[in-house]
Amino acid sequence: MHDNTKEITKLVLSAKAKALKETSHEPEPELTQPIKWPVSCTVGPGLEGAIACETGIGYVNGAKGWLIYRGYNIFDLCAYSTYEEVAYLLLYGSLPTLKRLESFKKKLMQYSHIPNTKRLLMSFPVEQMNPMAALRLGTSLMRQEFTDVEADGYVSETVKMISADEDSIPMETKPMGEKHAIYEFDSKLEREKSIKDSLLHATGYESCHHLIAGVASLAAAIARIRYGHMPLEPNLDLSFAANLLYMINGVVPNPVEERIMDIVLILHADHGMNASTFASMVVASTLSDIYLSVGSGIAALQGPLHGGANEAVINMLKEIGSVKNVKPWLEKALAKKMKIMGFGHRVYKAYDPRARVLAPLAAYLSKNNTEGAKFLKIAKALEKGVAAALSKEKKIFPNVDFYSGIVYSSMGLPPELFTPLFAVSRVAGWTARVEEYLRHNRIFRPRAMYTGTFDKRYRPIEKRKN
Ligand code: ACO
Repeated sequence: MHDNTKEITKLVLSAKAKALKETSHEPEPELTQPIKWPVSCTVGPGLEGAIACETGIGYVNGAKGWLIYRGYNIFDLCAYSTYEEVAYLLLYGSLPTLKRLESFKKKLMQYSHIPNTKRLLMSFPVEQMNPMAALRLGTSLMRQEFTDVEADGYVSETVKMISADEDSIPMETKPMGEKHAIYEFDSKLEREKSIKDSLLHATGYESCHHLIAGVASLAAAIARIRYGHMPLEPNLDLSFAANLLYMINGVVPNPVEERIMDIVLILHADHGMNASTFASMVVASTLSDIYLSVGSGIAALQGPLHGGANEAVINMLKEIGSVKNVKPWLEKALAKKMKIMGFGHRVYKAYDPRARVLAPLAAYLSKNNTEGAKFLKIAKALEKGVAAALSKEKKIFPNVDFYSGIVYSSMGLPPELFTPLFAVSRVAGWTARVEEYLRHNRIFRPRAMYTGTFDKRYRPIEKRKN
């Protein structure tokens, strides 16, 4: 192992030691028993406290600030594992053997080639689109690549006719009589059957691998198109983390950047029934396919109350501008009852363990990065101010999004890429949870309390007053 990467491991392990020391007195885990349906629970607005299913994938203990993937503490996974291993763990339930890891990595590499998807994506104005909207579009195009029979050599008769005569356009194609019409109809049926078969395939683990690898290639392609470069093909000799950075920057990262990116990916891979995971699961529960489910996850992650907070944090730090502005800025924000980006969490009522790892990583990187160092100073001062005002009373602490942006910025990554990078990693969690839920699927269908009126008399439009 590279010497500097050993230093990174030490930072993770000291964050673990601090977390254990500070939270040992907190209550033991809750919500860890098998469910006997129907279950009784107290539900708050926004489904707070609602239990929707059982899972063996991951556990968040909000009081202690613990995050567990398949029984393993997040700190140990960050210290000793890689994103490929963690993605395998989330999907398949155990850490891979060397042989299984090798074949999993090969699969991911194979699926990181998405030339047709990239070609299709480039027919849209990607450089003008919100990158998360482009990423979501890209996953739909990946689905097309997996299911489109034209990709397997199917060419419709109409297309053949048109391309046989370069000057012809569809309206000029002479009708060929009933026989031909029936033939075209039959072949359309054939084609639909073939798409259906591919879609059945598109709900299995193969599609999970395709998405885990492909969304990374998509995010990198979107980044490059935005900055006026052609997308790059993956570098098959690199790890997932290094290849991701290579496909964005066109430069193989150094071992420290690779290691830090790997840890960032591990930290973001799964997190209970958060809004984007739930969105993916809701879509999958209708027996829609996993590409559309992951697309819904991306859509939900984009919002600033969820994954979009990482970009919002950097914009907030820019707005604050300097350490001396923190106090007046925070006073104003608190007076206006503003939500401070990167703070608070529905489940954690303790320090988010992911922020415990990301803060020292941000500090490590910002030693050689002036802008990162400036952001970090402001962030530390803001954390102190928020802690004094809100930690004790409301149990508000920094969440995963508070320091991740400083880590990304210090690695030269632009703010509009922060949330897509979060999505790249979370595909592992979304797909694992969808696959798990589908084994005992029941369509999600809560109810709302109707507070409207009854018995209104229908009035024709011309008799309605303002
Ligand atoms: N800043 C100031 N006060 C806050 C914050 C915050 N960031 N978060 C919560 N509070 C306060 C609320 O005002 C509320 O106070 P009140 O009881 O006096 O009304 C109390 O804490 C509870 O807050 P809720 O809004 O009920 O918490 P909820 O669980 O609904 O929301 C959320 C959680 C969305 C994360 C919220 O804390 C927030 O908006 N944070 C800022 C955005 C953010 O960082 N999101 C990323 C979360 S991590 C992730 O999704 C990857």
